[in-house]
Amino acid sequence: MRLVLLGPPGAGKGTQARALATLWGIPQVSSGDLLRTVVREDSELGREAASYMDRGQLVPDELVLKLIDERLRKKDARKGFILDGFPRNVMQAEALAKGLDKAGLKLDKAVAVIVPDEEIVKRISGRRTCAKCNAMYHVAFEPPKKPGVCDKCGGELYQREDDAEETVRERLKVFAEATRPLLDYYGRLGLLEQVDGVGRTDDVEKRILSAVNGVAPPPN
Ligand code: AP5
Repeated sequence: MRLVLLGPPGAGKGTQARALATLWGIPQVSSGDLLRTVVREDSELGREAASYMDRGQLVPDELVLKLIDERLRKKDARKGFILDGFPRNVMQAEALAKGLDKAGLKLDKAVAVIVPDEEIVKRISGRRTCAKCNAMYHVAFEPPKKPGVCDKCGGELYQREDDAEETVRERLKVFAEATRPLLDYYGRLGLLEQVDGVGRTDDVEKRILSAVNGVAPPPN
């Protein structure tokens, strides 16, 4: 299964990608997580990426494409992958298609998770992420057992820099302008499925599974 998960910030792409990756035994490939790893390394490249991310802007395509290309070449991605947060614009989608084509591969589906803006603001303001294992929580909808501590690895939970209200508004604007056109792009290719992202996370997962029915691998 080679799947793209599309959707605005806070739609639940990361939450769903992680669940599906476990179910299918293929990796979740998150461009946001790859970029945050580069930022943590405190290199010149990391500082450049952070300067875009902190403003809610897209990081230049060249850097993102390099990170994704390196990640998809790893052995665990041979069986398939779930792309979360990539592609983010038509240029990235075309580069992905070209890279897959060169390898004799193709995407199976692009699933857009649809969530209204007011729900997004609630989700993002309560999100907490583990600094060690990237597990995700929400202070109200999915709280950790002990506040500020990851249930899975005991790591410290933090709030992302780009989850400040003003930056979230900018990220929503960037989504509308740069990423939403991908719905038409994948629609024209006959790959698009749209799924309601509101409701319990396991209900959203069921909707995605039903949208990819026919191409999904058997559960792991
Ligand atoms: P990225 O990390 O990709 O962020 P994003 O797309 O803005 O998405 P989020 O991670 O905010 O949300 P999500 O949809 O994964 O939701 P989540 O599951 O966390 O990108 C960050 C930045 O990196 C970008 O702004 C850009 O600068 C740069 N970047 C990344 N990719 C790039 C690219 N390809 N090109 C250029 N630049 C790029 O859920 C959110 C919260 O809601 C959580 O707390 C969760 O617990 C909760 N939640 C999830 N589902 C539900 C539900 N059903 N009900 C209630 N709560 C829920």
